Amino acid sequence: MAKNYEEFRTHGKVLIDYICNYVKTIEKRPAFYENLKPGFLAPQLPSDMPENPESFTNVLLDFDQKILPGMVHGIHPDFFTFFGTGNAYPSVIGDMLSGAIATVGFSWASSPSVTELEYIMLDWYAKALNLPDFFLSINSNKNSKGGGALQASATDAMMSFMIAARDRAIKQQKNGRRDSHQPGLGGNEDAAYLPKLVCYASVNAHGCVEKVANLCMVKYRSVKVDADDKMKASALENAIREDLENGFIPFFVVGTSGTTEQGAFDELDKIGEVCSKFQGIWFHVDASYGGNFFMLPSKRYLSVGLNYADSINVNPNKLLLTAADCTCAWVKDVQGFVEAFDVEALYLKHQYEESIVDLRHWGTPLSRRFRSLKLFFMFRMYGLEGFQAFLNKVIDVGEHFATLVTSDSRFRVKNDAKNGIVCFRLNRNDHVNESLLKMINDTKKIHLLPTICKKKMCLRFVVNREYCSEAQVKRAWLLISHYATNLRDEIKRRRALSIEGQAEENDELNQENSLNFKDRMTIETNESAVKKSIQDDETPTVAPKDESAV
Ligand SMILES: Cc1ncc(COP(=O)(O)O)c(C=O)c1O
Repeated sequence: MAKNYEEFRTHGKVLIDYICNYVKTIEKRPAFYENLKPGFLAPQLPSDMPENPESFTNVLLDFDQKILPGMVHGIHPDFFTFFGTGNAYPSVIGDMLSGAIATVGFSWASSPSVTELEYIMLDWYAKALNLPDFFLSINSNKNSKGGGALQASATDAMMSFMIAARDRAIKQQKNGRRDSHQPGLGGNEDAAYLPKLVCYASVNAHGCVEKVANLCMVKYRSVKVDADDKMKASALENAIREDLENGFIPFFVVGTSGTTEQGAFDELDKIGEVCSKFQGIWFHVDASYGGNFFMLPSKRYLSVGLNYADSINVNPNKLLLTAADCTCAWVKDVQGFVEAFDVEALYLKHQYEESIVDLRHWGTPLSRRFRSLKLFFMFRMYGLEGFQAFLNKVIDVGEHFATLVTSDSRFRVKNDAKNGIVCFRLNRNDHVNESLLKMINDTKKIHLLPTICKKKMCLRFVVNREYCSEAQVKRAWLLISHYATNLRDEIKRRRALSIEGQAEENDELNQENSLNFKDRMTIETNESAVKKSIQDDETPTVAPKDESAV
């Protein structure tokens, strides 16, 4: 039985009211689910699809009472974890329309506006970010070979670009030939190059680079960082030279603008210069979070060196209030890029193939929904000024929190906390900081992640949410500082006990052994980044003198 759209008129209005109430009352809910274990949901729902249609009201009720309690409310003002994704309503409207205007969108002919609006929106955003002109499409720059399209996630963008770079590298080795498409050869000859290809990113790069390298069956090499957690260009150059000497083929380098854990911005000019010294290296910039800041003239210095890049991705869903999924990805040479994905089928052909690149050539999926609609509504309803005001607020709120932390002599901020991410720690060993983090997260009042910053375990506090204000972070700070005091009292109590009988070395809370940190780290954590950082840190942590008192 088809559902008619008159019903939707009624139910849609109810749903919009429901969504508005959800957002309006978000603070009254706990930000976190309570005491749930895997498998909590199935017993609450029927074991099979219902035989007969059910009413909208029943379904929404079940959502509200059974499913919603299993959510972390990422827009909650007490949520300072991950990079919360946006839910600004213009983007929600765009997604609704995209669902309603059913399209397959894989070729220009399948719905011309889907392709064209996506290219136009990506040009708008590239210009707002002041990206180099070569990333613009020919709509905006007649001489350009470049352009941008949307990807489902930063990882997907990484995957597409690494596949294209791999394709290019193999062709370079074989004077332009690939055997993958030739009957009988099946890619055997190409595959022989895979074990030689090497990609590079800093130890602080997101884990998706390593994941994608594994999927592409190429070697992944992580590069050391400097004292500010930025990739060391000299270490990159040494690694590339060493690999070349050993017969490997360096083919892909990733620089990060806004590392997930520390918010560090790699110096793109220095990395780009290194890449340009060697033939055939594809330089990709993962600006998932931090790239959004390029919209601010005051932050443009962070994008110096983008002229060396072959590709870049920026995610409006990570910092520009936009609902996920929304990864903007640009490439300097669109034709060179799409060659890696170009497989023809009779039913996909159309008469304008030569004049416009179909979106299906931008990655692995064939069909795609009308993704750019959410940007169309966001860009027009916020405008550059609206976004800039929000980005400045993120900076201000982050700095405000950092000031609160530094005004307490028990704590130290360890990163350059000017971009909405504050990494801080008690002036104690890692073990004590872990205990503090656990105490805080156990309250379920606020939530923070552990991170490694300047080789020390830190608490990571992110303020990229629409509803995150100075008042909210002050409230969070009072809680953190309260638990730091509790922890100090606990340590004193244990010390007193140990003086009475136990050796102090046995004090679980007071052990100086950061090398065991990874074993103890059981809270949600980026395991591989931690591992890498620890491997890189050969000197055990010894607390400086001023790190003695909580
Ligand atoms: C710098 C960076 N790159 C890549 C990713 C992966 O993003 P996605 O979930 O869109 O694949 C993240 C996630 O937070 C990130 O911070």
